[in-house]
Amino acid sequence: MQIDPSVHSNADNYKLLTNLVVPRPIAWVTSQSQSGVINLAPFSFFNAVGSDPLYIIISVGRNDAGEPKDTAKNIQTGGEFVVNLVTEELFGAMNVSAADFPAEQSELAAAHLHTAPSVRIKVPRVAEAQASIECKLFSAQPLGANTLFIGEVVMFHVADHLIGPRLHINNFAPIGRLGSPSVYCRTTDRFDVARVTYAQWLRDNG
Ligand SMILES: Cc1cc2nc3c(=O)[nH]c(=O)nc-3n(C[C@H](O)[C@H](O)[C@H](O)COP(=O)(O)O)c2cc1C
Repeated sequence: MQIDPSVHSNADNYKLLTNLVVPRPIAWVTSQSQSGVINLAPFSFFNAVGSDPLYIIISVGRNDAGEPKDTAKNIQTGGEFVVNLVTEELFGAMNVSAADFPAEQSELAAAHLHTAPSVRIKVPRVAEAQASIECKLFSAQPLGANTLFIGEVVMFHVADHLIGPRLHINNFAPIGRLGSPSVYCRTTDRFDVARVTYAQWLRDNG
């Protein structure tokens, strides 16, 4: 079946895209308003997109009133944010933080979370997160109703028990987002397969 997005509603197209591009990682973003309120919200239009320097992207839409979300406003004005990663024990708190709290109320207290200081930026991270990534805004690109933020990674925070030899990360299992609006997956069912070089492929198939 072919489905042409140009003849379907935005809501249906969003459903198609977000049920096909799965699983999506979740950036649990702390940002700070000009008056100093620490904002927290999850974003699954999120990925790692650059390795030298290190870049990540998040894409933030508009709220139900058609206004920019607090996260977008804060990143635009403050130029920095933290991507905290969501493991299963933090799922409930992540879900609470997605509610449409007024800008002057921090989602952190509502979700019974605490902040820990960042190192390179002013915006704090979520103390309870097993891993957090400090980012400085590299660019903000309007993308229809969304804004695509590219952040340059300036510091990692990773719980000691996750770090193995040569910075190998062990047993880190953030949750993923599947179909919208509320289906998720665990990342604990894994398999490890070595990559094949062209020479190996020729040996086996030549
Ligand atoms: C798991 C999850 C992922 C989400 N991903 C996005 C996203 O990628 N982009 C977006 O604009 N909203 C996303 N949302 C909705 C925002 O989290 C929600 O609108 C939130 O209230 C925004 O908060 P803010 O106004 O404090 O920035 C997501 C919600 C959940 C629960």
